[in-house]
Amino acid sequence: MKIVKLGGSVITYKEKYKAVNFKHLRNLCKILAENDEKKILIHGAGSFGHIQAMKASLDKPGPIRGKESPISRVITDVSELNSLIADELNKYGVRAISIPPHAIYKGYRSDFGIVDLVLNNGFVPLLYGDIVLSKGRYRIISGDEIALDLSRKFSPDSVLFVTDVDGLYDSDPKVNRKAKLIPSIFSKDISVVDTGKDATGSMAGKMERIKKMVLYTNRVVILNGKKPDRLLAALKGEGTRSTVIT
Ligand code: IPE
Repeated sequence: MKIVKLGGSVITYKEKYKAVNFKHLRNLCKILAENDEKKILIHGAGSFGHIQAMKASLDKPGPIRGKESPISRVITDVSELNSLIADELNKYGVRAISIPPHAIYKGYRSDFGIVDLVLNNGFVPLLYGDIVLSKGRYRIISGDEIALDLSRKFSPDSVLFVTDVDGLYDSDPKVNRKAKLIPSIFSKDISVVDTGKDATGSMAGKMERIKKMVLYTNRVVILNGKKPDRLLAALKGEGTRSTVIT
């Protein structure tokens, strides 16, 4: 079984409120339909989540009081993106069934019974970065965090992160033109210099979660979703330009 997270920066235009990148989304749906292995899909929020969440300062967990409108707005927007993605997946033949994280998480506690049920009836569970509630409080949950929780529960053979870069580099490729892609690395050898921040935290936070994830899966792969063939190769367990973390 595999867990695949489609990053928000691939399937949406991150700077433009609620703009879907249908070209990338459809290419990825096509690949996902070609591979009929058991899998759980997760997608990020991209411009359906981060823009409003930052505007309303929802990036840190906190009391709901006074923030009801933006919380409801963001939950509604990411669920709209989720419907669009479920629709595209279905059009290409992926039998996805959406499971809204806000319906199965209470704060930090989750009940994945429904994920298990959907998966074991031959469907593809589809979850996403969302806002979840507990008594009087809210918090944003990223797709990455959901991937970690699902890994703990389902022990997938691999977790694939479909991003807008080829993988991890030895320095920032946006700054250093000589930056080299790291094809494979042991999680214990990963060290990160922190960069930008959005509503679900930093690159360092993402790497911390990936380090924990390798305890529950054989490998974590970070790959570029703008080159859909790489996703197909990774799904088949073949080598492709990417970073494999073990
Ligand atoms: C973000 O989820 C969720 C919200 C902002 C509500 P992710 O952190 O998984 O989204 P991307 O992949 O960075 O867009």
